[in-house]
Amino acid sequence: MIAFSEVSFNITASLDFVKTFTNMMIKLSWRNRAFYDKMKEVSSDADAAQKAMTSSHTMRTFFPQPLARGEAPGKIILFGEHAVVYGRPAIAAPVQQVRARAEIWPADACVVDAVDLNRRIFVARARRNDPLALIVRLVCERLHRPLPRWRIRVTSEIPPAAGLGSGAAISTAVVRAMLAGFDEELDNAEVSALVYEVEKIYHGAPSGIDNTVVAYEQPVWFVRGQPPRPFAVARPLHWLIADTGVASPTRIAVGDVRRAWEQDPARFEMLFDAAGDIARQARTAIEKGDVAALGLLMDANQRLLAEMGVSSPELERLMRAARDAGALGAKLSGAGRGGNLIALVHEDQVERVQQALLRAGAVRVIATIVR
Ligand code: MEV
Repeated sequence: MIAFSEVSFNITASLDFVKTFTNMMIKLSWRNRAFYDKMKEVSSDADAAQKAMTSSHTMRTFFPQPLARGEAPGKIILFGEHAVVYGRPAIAAPVQQVRARAEIWPADACVVDAVDLNRRIFVARARRNDPLALIVRLVCERLHRPLPRWRIRVTSEIPPAAGLGSGAAISTAVVRAMLAGFDEELDNAEVSALVYEVEKIYHGAPSGIDNTVVAYEQPVWFVRGQPPRPFAVARPLHWLIADTGVASPTRIAVGDVRRAWEQDPARFEMLFDAAGDIARQARTAIEKGDVAALGLLMDANQRLLAEMGVSSPELERLMRAARDAGALGAKLSGAGRGGNLIALVHEDQVERVQQALLRAGAVRVIATIVR
């Protein structure tokens, strides 16, 4: 006689088997369809695609690689943050040591997997102002394509809310991967313009400098509303980028500066003018390779940023440690209040200043060279 518990165990086991088997078949069928689509695309011959699909050897080698990839670097603002929102010039450079990456894999719907955030976004169902869904839609609209059946896997080494352009880099990586996936091209100005639309969500009223430097991947002289201008860097400049570990969303710092400017426009216009003058002098110093002058200009820019209300005790402590250890100058970079600072150093002082920053509490220090 079979006990009731045994029957129920047998039924459960059979149901589990059916479930696993069905899942396997579903997976196999979408992989088949995606593979078929891919082969058709490559061979433009449906019969060949069908044949290739049934070849077991080819089946085993299904998509060992993503269909396409895209990448983008982080960024630092060397001079002129905040003032740049109000039309003054600023200088920014890409940071190649930290990057955002996007990969495209076949799927049965358009989804973005933000791996670091542990988020999956179904683009068709996402809210209009979801940054990741928005950049995917903007690319499709620009290229007159329907939403593709892709899983867009996004990863980033750039800490968010730290002044290193994480949002702009992630959007740019997605655009570049999608362009590769569609086999289309857009120039840097168009990539930057698409990313700018998403930056508005992150920043409120962005100047456009972050999306520009990340999309062009070169040092830029930037004035809001104008095309960026590359410029000559007379000799390699060694910078250390030190993270306070304090997250500071750009939108908040930019909003606070705006409110302060509205309350005292005369004072803030003077601060912005002074920051613009410093950026002009800094450009000349970079073009001449005058690193001593550049260091002093960084300190002067930092004093203005402190007066704008965007420095913080953590930033000030780390900057003091960098200067005491021999940095030529130091300032916050990006929106401030936390995030990262940058220190300009002679090549032979890199290690010493880096150690001093770590001892003073920096959670991470990146060495980069602007050339
Ligand atoms: C942020 O990286 C730079 C700011 O000047 C904001 C902007 O330019 O949009 C603080």
